[in-house]
Amino acid sequence: MENIQIFPGVDELAHAAAALITTAAAESIKARDVFHWVLSGGSTPRTIFFLLNREPYVQKIHWDKVHLWWGDERCVPPVHQDSNYRMAYDAFIKYLPITESHVHRIQAELLPNQAAQAYELLLREIFISNPFPVFDLVLLGMGEDGHTASLFPHTSALSETTRWVTENYVPRLDTWRITLTAPVINAARQVAILVSGESKAQTLKLVLQSPYKPEVYPIQMIQLENGTKTWLLDAQAASQLSR
Ligand code: 6PG
Repeated sequence: MENIQIFPGVDELAHAAAALITTAAAESIKARDVFHWVLSGGSTPRTIFFLLNREPYVQKIHWDKVHLWWGDERCVPPVHQDSNYRMAYDAFIKYLPITESHVHRIQAELLPNQAAQAYELLLREIFISNPFPVFDLVLLGMGEDGHTASLFPHTSALSETTRWVTENYVPRLDTWRITLTAPVINAARQVAILVSGESKAQTLKLVLQSPYKPEVYPIQMIQLENGTKTWLLDAQAASQLSR
């Protein structure tokens, strides 16, 4: 199932996302006594993370039942300013009673292929479901080029159909990334995609309202088999969508 929600501004979008996260956590913990949540990098999620360690959201989540994962990571040490782990740690993890062993960062300080293999091994220790792990919630953003996680246009990760985690060289950025693969994201119970700002409007229109071209717009690959996909947009990002 797919739905699109449009909010006046990024603050309203952030509160809606925080509410979606707390609801997903409550439902997962009630059903399975655990909440496996995949975080995204980028500036939009950061706004939400700041909300989660304060009222009214902070008390709504049983943080001791939360397992944090990352959808992708830059190939830098965890203390680096570009690290998605560091961004989340500084924004909310360090303030919350989350069990340290439940914070599963990608060891992106390793060589790219070693980091990807290590993360997949970690996933396979926790998730016995096959062929892919089933996360309770995957948070995603969208780049202006239509990438999500670190599934960038015209890169090798887009064609990966069996590995759960892969290293991915991104020529446009001249850098390596580590990313969950599309089949893993698509196996999730729920995916929430956060898109805000005028700079995303043209790409979002093409992603949602033009033919399927995943090599060009990788985020179009995110098509859940059984789960729910929710686009959380602000009015600026949605400004070019036709009704
Ligand atoms: C990353 C993210 C990336 C992000 C998009 C959108 O590592 O940068 O995982 O996929 O979600 O680039 O980022 P913004 O929300 O900052 O626009």
